[in-house]
Amino acid sequence: MSYKILKKEELIPGQTTMLVIDAPQIAQKAKPGNFVMLRVNEHGERIPLTIADCDAKNGTITIIYLVVGKTTAEMNTLKEGDGFADVCGPLGKPTHIEKTGTVVCVGGGTGIAAMHHIAKGHVEAGNRVIAVIGARSKNLLLFCSELSALCPEVRIATDDGTEGHKGFVTEVLQDLLETEDDVAEVVAIGPVPMMEAVCRVTKPFGTKTTVSLNSIMVDGIGMCGACRCTVGGKTLFACVDGPEFDGQKVDFDELKARLRQFTEQEAESTEMFSK
Ligand code: FES
Repeated sequence: MSYKILKKEELIPGQTTMLVIDAPQIAQKAKPGNFVMLRVNEHGERIPLTIADCDAKNGTITIIYLVVGKTTAEMNTLKEGDGFADVCGPLGKPTHIEKTGTVVCVGGGTGIAAMHHIAKGHVEAGNRVIAVIGARSKNLLLFCSELSALCPEVRIATDDGTEGHKGFVTEVLQDLLETEDDVAEVVAIGPVPMMEAVCRVTKPFGTKTTVSLNSIMVDGIGMCGACRCTVGGKTLFACVDGPEFDGQKVDFDELKARLRQFTEQEAESTEMFSK
Protein backbone atom coordinates (compact mmCIF):
# COMPACT_ATOMS: atom_id res chain seq x y z
CA MET A 1 0.00 0.00 0.00
CA SER A 2 1.32 3.44 -0.84
CA TYR A 3 0.67 6.04 1.76
CA LYS A 4 0.31 8.91 -0.64
CA ILE A 5 0.93 12.52 0.34
CA LEU A 6 -2.25 14.37 -0.56
CA LYS A 7 -1.17 17.75 0.75
CA LYS A 8 2.15 19.28 1.73
CA GLU A 9 2.47 22.65 3.37
CA GLU A 10 5.57 24.29 4.74
CA LEU A 11 4.29 25.86 7.95
CA ILE A 12 7.66 27.42 8.70
CA PRO A 13 9.80 27.47 5.54
CA GLY A 14 12.78 25.11 5.74
CA GLN A 15 11.90 24.12 9.28
CA THR A 16 8.42 22.74 9.89
CA THR A 17 6.21 20.89 7.43
CA MET A 18 2.67 19.54 7.51
CA LEU A 19 1.67 16.49 5.48
CA VAL A 20 -1.82 15.11 4.92
CA ILE A 21 -1.41 11.41 4.12
CA ASP A 22 -3.87 8.97 2.61
CA ALA A 23 -4.14 6.31 5.32
CA PRO A 24 -7.81 5.26 5.62
CA GLN A 25 -7.33 2.34 8.00
CA ILE A 26 -5.28 4.44 10.43
CA ALA A 27 -7.69 7.38 10.16
CA GLN A 28 -10.60 5.10 11.12
CA LYS A 29 -8.97 4.13 14.40
CA ALA A 30 -6.70 7.03 15.39
CA LYS A 31 -7.45 8.83 18.61
CA PRO A 32 -5.82 11.86 20.26
CA GLY A 33 -2.41 10.89 21.65
CA ASN A 34 -1.73 8.13 19.09
CA PHE A 35 1.32 8.18 16.86
CA VAL A 36 2.55 6.46 13.71
CA MET A 37 5.90 4.96 12.74
CA LEU A 38 6.81 5.69 9.16
CA ARG A 39 9.54 4.94 6.66
CA VAL A 40 10.34 7.14 3.70
CA ASN A 41 11.54 4.18 1.63
CA GLU A 42 12.51 0.56 2.11
CA HIS A 43 16.04 1.49 3.22
CA GLY A 44 14.86 4.18 5.60
CA GLU A 45 14.76 4.18 9.39
CA ARG A 46 11.42 4.10 11.16
CA ILE A 47 10.57 7.32 12.91
CA PRO A 48 7.68 8.08 15.28
CA LEU A 49 5.42 11.05 14.60
CA THR A 50 2.35 12.06 16.57
CA ILE A 51 -0.91 12.22 14.67
CA ALA A 52 -1.79 15.91 14.69
CA ASP A 53 -5.23 15.36 13.21
CA CYS A 54 -7.24 12.74 11.39
CA ASP A 55 -10.25 12.69 9.14
CA ALA A 56 -12.01 9.33 9.22
CA LYS A 57 -14.46 10.39 6.50
CA ASN A 58 -11.77 11.27 3.98
CA GLY A 59 -9.35 8.60 5.23
CA THR A 60 -6.48 10.96 6.00
CA ILE A 61 -4.07 11.64 8.83
CA THR A 62 -2.07 14.82 9.37
CA ILE A 63 1.47 14.86 10.67
CA ILE A 64 3.76 17.78 11.41
CA TYR A 65 7.50 17.44 11.60
CA LEU A 66 10.52 19.54 12.30
CA VAL A 67 13.42 19.09 9.89
CA VAL A 68 16.10 18.06 12.37
CA GLY A 69 18.04 15.19 10.85
CA LYS A 70 18.59 12.90 7.89
CA THR A 71 15.18 11.24 7.78
CA THR A 72 13.16 14.42 8.19
CA ALA A 73 15.37 16.12 5.57
CA GLU A 74 14.65 13.20 3.24
CA MET A 75 10.94 13.45 4.02
CA ASN A 76 11.10 17.07 3.05
CA THR A 77 12.17 16.11 -0.48
CA LEU A 78 8.85 14.29 -1.02
CA LYS A 79 6.15 16.08 -2.96
CA GLU A 80 2.39 15.84 -3.13
CA GLY A 81 1.59 12.58 -4.94
CA ASP A 82 4.67 10.77 -3.58
CA GLY A 83 4.15 8.06 -1.00
CA PHE A 84 5.82 6.51 2.05
CA ALA A 85 7.09 2.92 2.03
CA ASP A 86 5.01 2.25 5.11
CA VAL A 87 3.08 3.97 7.83
CA CYS A 88 2.28 1.85 10.85
CA GLY A 89 -0.34 2.87 13.35
CA PRO A 90 -2.20 4.08 15.22
CA LEU A 91 0.31 3.24 17.97
CA GLY A 92 0.55 4.09 21.64
CA LYS A 93 -2.19 4.48 24.17
CA PRO A 94 -4.68 7.21 23.33
CA THR A 95 -4.97 10.17 25.66
CA HIS A 96 -7.23 9.49 28.62
CA ILE A 97 -10.04 11.95 28.04
CA GLU A 98 -13.10 12.33 30.22
CA LYS A 99 -15.31 15.22 31.25
CA THR A 100 -13.38 16.79 34.09
CA GLY A 101 -13.98 20.54 33.79
CA THR A 102 -11.13 22.86 32.91
CA VAL A 103 -8.09 21.46 31.13
CA VAL A 104 -5.05 23.58 30.31
CA CYS A 105 -3.22 22.32 27.21
CA VAL A 106 0.34 23.61 26.92
CA GLY A 107 2.22 23.25 23.64
CA GLY A 108 5.66 24.30 22.50
CA GLY A 109 7.27 24.08 19.05
CA THR A 110 5.91 21.24 16.91
CA GLY A 111 4.31 19.89 20.09
CA ILE A 112 1.58 22.46 19.49
CA ALA A 113 0.33 20.34 16.58
CA ALA A 114 0.03 17.20 18.70
CA MET A 115 -1.49 19.23 21.51
CA HIS A 116 -4.16 20.50 19.07
CA HIS A 117 -5.47 16.94 18.54
CA ILE A 118 -5.67 16.39 22.31
CA ALA A 119 -7.31 19.77 22.89
CA LYS A 120 -9.88 18.83 20.25
CA GLY A 121 -10.62 15.59 22.13
CA HIS A 122 -11.14 17.50 25.39
CA VAL A 123 -13.44 20.03 23.72
CA GLU A 124 -15.48 17.18 22.21
CA ALA A 125 -15.73 15.61 25.70
CA GLY A 126 -17.28 18.85 26.96
CA ASN A 127 -14.30 20.22 28.84
CA ARG A 128 -13.34 23.87 28.96
CA VAL A 129 -9.95 24.02 27.28
CA ILE A 130 -7.45 26.81 27.81
CA ALA A 131 -4.60 26.53 25.30
CA VAL A 132 -1.19 27.94 26.15
CA ILE A 133 1.27 27.94 23.28
CA GLY A 134 4.77 29.22 22.98
CA ALA A 135 7.64 29.69 20.56
CA ARG A 136 10.77 31.76 20.27
CA SER A 137 9.03 34.27 18.01
CA LYS A 138 5.63 35.01 16.44
CA ASN A 139 6.57 33.50 13.05
CA LEU A 140 7.36 30.17 14.74
CA LEU A 141 3.93 29.75 16.32
CA LEU A 142 1.89 26.90 14.87
CA PHE A 143 -1.85 26.18 14.75
CA CYS A 144 -2.91 29.57 16.19
CA SER A 145 -6.01 29.88 14.02
CA GLU A 146 -6.95 26.19 14.39
CA LEU A 147 -6.72 26.47 18.19
CA SER A 148 -8.64 29.74 18.26
CA ALA A 149 -11.41 28.10 16.22
CA LEU A 150 -11.45 25.20 18.67
CA CYS A 151 -11.40 27.01 22.00
CA PRO A 152 -11.90 30.70 22.73
CA GLU A 153 -9.14 30.88 25.30
CA VAL A 154 -5.72 30.77 23.68
CA ARG A 155 -2.79 32.32 25.57
CA ILE A 156 0.45 32.93 23.74
CA ALA A 157 4.01 33.41 24.93
CA THR A 158 7.00 34.27 22.77
CA ASP A 159 10.59 34.58 23.95
CA ASP A 160 11.03 37.88 22.10
CA GLY A 161 7.60 39.32 22.91
CA THR A 162 6.50 39.59 19.26
CA GLU A 163 3.16 37.98 20.19
CA GLY A 164 1.43 37.65 23.54
CA HIS A 165 3.36 37.41 26.78
CA LYS A 166 7.11 38.08 26.51
CA GLY A 167 8.62 35.05 28.15
CA PHE A 168 7.80 31.40 28.63
CA VAL A 169 4.62 29.34 28.59
CA THR A 170 5.41 28.35 32.16
CA GLU A 171 4.95 31.96 33.31
CA VAL A 172 1.53 32.08 31.62
CA LEU A 173 0.68 28.73 33.21
CA GLN A 174 1.77 29.91 36.66
CA ASP A 175 -0.50 32.93 36.32
CA LEU A 176 -3.41 30.73 35.19
CA LEU A 177 -3.03 28.32 38.08
CA GLU A 178 -2.95 31.24 40.53
CA THR A 179 -6.13 32.80 39.09
CA GLU A 180 -8.19 29.77 38.01
CA ASP A 181 -9.11 27.58 40.94
CA ASP A 182 -10.75 24.74 39.05
CA VAL A 183 -8.05 23.43 36.71
CA ALA A 184 -8.52 19.65 36.66
CA GLU A 185 -5.55 18.79 34.48
CA VAL A 186 -2.58 20.27 32.66
CA VAL A 187 -1.41 18.52 29.48
CA ALA A 188 2.03 19.52 28.18
CA ILE A 189 3.57 18.54 24.85
CA GLY A 190 6.75 20.00 23.47
CA PRO A 191 10.49 20.05 24.07
CA VAL A 192 11.59 18.02 27.10
CA PRO A 193 12.89 21.07 29.05
CA MET A 194 9.49 22.73 28.57
CA MET A 195 7.56 19.69 29.82
CA GLU A 196 9.91 19.38 32.79
CA ALA A 197 9.44 23.08 33.60
CA VAL A 198 5.66 22.70 33.36
CA CYS A 199 5.83 19.88 35.93
CA ARG A 200 7.84 22.12 38.26
CA VAL A 201 5.14 24.80 38.01
CA THR A 202 2.19 22.46 38.58
CA LYS A 203 3.76 20.50 41.44
CA PRO A 204 2.98 22.98 44.26
CA PHE A 205 -0.61 23.23 43.03
CA GLY A 206 -1.02 19.44 43.00
CA THR A 207 -2.60 19.63 39.57
CA LYS A 208 -2.66 16.42 37.53
CA THR A 209 -0.02 16.88 34.83
CA THR A 210 0.25 14.74 31.72
CA VAL A 211 3.28 14.87 29.44
CA SER A 212 3.94 13.12 26.13
CA LEU A 213 7.41 11.58 25.87
CA ASN A 214 9.29 11.81 22.59
CA SER A 215 11.72 8.98 23.31
CA ILE A 216 13.91 7.46 20.61
CA MET A 217 11.91 4.61 19.08
CA VAL A 218 12.87 1.78 16.77
CA ASP A 219 9.97 -0.64 16.42
CA GLY A 220 7.22 1.29 18.20
CA ILE A 221 5.54 -1.91 19.38
CA GLY A 222 7.31 -2.76 22.62
CA MET A 223 9.87 -5.26 21.33
CA CYS A 224 13.19 -3.41 21.10
CA GLY A 225 13.39 -1.47 24.36
CA ALA A 226 14.79 1.66 22.69
CA CYS A 227 12.10 3.92 24.13
CA ARG A 228 12.43 2.78 27.73
CA CYS A 229 11.97 5.44 30.35
CA THR A 230 11.58 5.51 34.10
CA VAL A 231 8.21 6.58 35.45
CA GLY A 232 7.45 6.32 39.15
CA GLY A 233 10.59 4.21 39.61
CA LYS A 234 9.46 1.63 37.06
CA THR A 235 10.97 0.99 33.63
CA LEU A 236 8.26 1.52 31.03
CA PHE A 237 8.17 1.70 27.25
CA ALA A 238 6.95 5.00 25.81
CA CYS A 239 5.59 3.28 22.69
CA VAL A 240 3.23 0.84 24.38
CA ASP A 241 2.86 2.12 27.96
CA GLY A 242 2.65 5.76 26.79
CA PRO A 243 3.59 8.01 25.16
CA GLU A 244 1.67 9.97 27.81
CA PHE A 245 2.59 9.68 31.47
CA ASP A 246 2.11 11.42 34.79
CA GLY A 247 4.72 14.17 34.44
CA GLN A 248 5.44 14.27 38.17
CA LYS A 249 6.70 10.69 38.02
CA VAL A 250 8.93 10.94 34.93
CA ASP A 251 12.71 10.76 35.34
CA PHE A 252 13.49 13.69 33.02
CA ASP A 253 17.25 13.53 33.58
CA GLU A 254 17.35 9.99 32.27
CA LEU A 255 15.09 10.90 29.34
CA LYS A 256 17.36 13.81 28.34
CA ALA A 257 20.46 11.62 28.56
CA ARG A 258 18.86 8.89 26.43
CA LEU A 259 17.76 11.44 23.81
CA ARG A 260 21.39 12.63 23.51
CA GLN A 261 22.94 9.20 23.05
CA PHE A 262 23.03 9.19 19.22
CA THR A 263 23.67 12.91 18.63
CA GLU A 264 27.04 12.25 16.97
CA GLN A 265 25.73 9.53 14.64
CA GLU A 266 22.68 11.65 13.75
CA ALA A 267 24.90 14.60 12.80
CA GLU A 268 27.13 12.33 10.70
CA SER A 269 24.14 10.81 8.89
CA THR A 270 22.63 14.25 8.20
CA GLU A 271 25.94 15.48 6.83
CA MET A 272 26.29 12.46 4.52
CA PHE A 273 22.73 12.95 3.24
CA SER A 274 23.21 16.64 2.54
CA LYS A 275 26.35 16.02 0.41
FE1 FES B 1 10.89 -0.41 20.77
FE2 FES B 1 9.33 1.07 22.27
S1 FES B 1 10.26 1.61 20.39
S2 FES B 1 10.10 -0.88 22.73
